[in-house]
Order: sequence, then C-alpha cells, then structure tokens
Amino acid sequence: MISLAVVCRCLSNFRVVATCRRYSSNLDCENEVYHFHHPEIQENATRDMLVFDNFVSEEEENHLLSDIEPKWRRLRYQFDHWDNAIQGYREKEINSWSNESSLILRRLRQTAFSDLDTQRSLVHVLDLADNGYIKPHIDSTRFCGRVIAGLSLLSPSVMRLTENADQSKYFDVLLNRRSLYIMKDGVRYNYSHEILPNESSYFKGDFILKKRRISVICRSEPDSVESQPPGDLLNAHLSN
Ligand code: OGA
Ligand code: MN
Repeated sequence: MISLAVVCRCLSNFRVVATCRRYSSNLDCENEVYHFHHPEIQENATRDMLVFDNFVSEEEENHLLSDIEPKWRRLRYQFDHWDNAIQGYREKEINSWSNESSLILRRLRQTAFSDLDTQRSLVHVLDLADNGYIKPHIDSTRFCGRVIAGLSLLSPSVMRLTENADQSKYFDVLLNRRSLYIMKDGVRYNYSHEILPNESSYFKGDFILKKRRISVICRSEPDSVESQPPGDLLNAHLSN
C-alpha cells in the first residue's frame, strides 16, 4: 500500500536475529522472531524477510523521535474510511533530519539496499495509535521498488505475511521495539503484509501488546517507472 504520501553491513551494535547468507554465513531460519504456520515457505521467507533486533539503541531511538514528534503538530489519527488499509494512523514523509538521525538512517540504508537500488530519498514515518493496525496489503509497485525497510519505534508488534497465491501459507514476524525489518523481492511482491490489531496480536501463543508505534520506513524506487501500470498513491492493494 502506501497510503497518503507514502509513498523508502552488519554493524557491531545490533544483533542479527533473522538473516540470510548476504549477512551471515550461518543461516539459521529457526529462530526467535519467526513463526511459520506452513513450513514449506520457510526458506524463501527467511531469505527475503530479515529482522535485526536492537538495530538502534534507546539513545538513537530518542534522537529519531525528537526529530519526528514535533512534525505532527495538529495532525490527528485517522480512523475514517472502512476500506482504508491502515486504521488509526497519521503519517508524514520527512526529509530534514538532525545529524544524529541522518547517521542512523544512513546505516539503515546501507544495511537494506544494494548498490543497484535507487532509493527514495524521503523517509516515510507512520504513527499507529494504540488501537491502530494495518490490514493486509502489498505496497504499490508503481511507487515502491523491491525493498522496504522499516524501523519499529516505541512498541513491539506482530507482522503477518501471507502468500498471495495460497493464503493458507503465512508466517508471523515479531517486530520488537528498535528492530529493523527488511522485506524484499519475493516476500515484498508475493506476500501481503499486515500489522495485527491487539485482538489478534499473538506471537507463538504469547500476547504482544501493541501500543502506540512509530515506524520509519525507507523504500527503493520502482525498477522501471515506464513499465508500471498507471496507479494512484492512495490505491492500497488489499488482499482481502
Ligand atoms: C505501509 C506499511 C508497515 C510498518 O505503510 O505500507 O506496511 O512497519 N507499514 O509500519
Ligand atoms: Mn506496506
């Protein structure tokens, strides 16, 4: 999706909890942040959906928040439309960051993108209220390329990824506070993603209370804009 305007090396200070060969030679798919409801999809899913716990420190989280929070001004959370893919949210695209935040974002981009990716320069910041959530959708291919990288601030949440072709094949990912996920290629195009509402926010049977959550999302540009069908930034692709 990408509603409104939305359209986004391993370093020593974060722990890689879910990764692939590019980042680690010890691929360990059976780890704490994935829950596969269908074992068949495990290999592809772990290759294209990476999660790095503690990607930013508490201090770095605070740097980012002190840039973000003043930007909301009087912007209210939107709960409006029945078919909106995101409920209880407000969002901004931000291009001015403090030096501290710029360094964090640079590290995020270095981790998420390859040299061949063209990156969107604006950073999408999405603020989900306590009771906000995101319905299953796929980000528009007209406005977003093969990589979506999201940093979770303030609260944990559970992201569910469901294969388009066979919706019985899905997996959940625990997005801890201060973790980074990188969703790319096969998972980005062939799976919908959603952030579960508190009513169904369970990970491996444990309830995960999603409080107010801010995500900081960087995306790559579509590979070839000419080849994309006409579309609309507000045109969420809801998979159900
Ligand atoms: C989106 C989206 C996920 C997140 O804005 O399209 O899926 O981590 N966001 O907030
Ligand atoms: Mn999305």
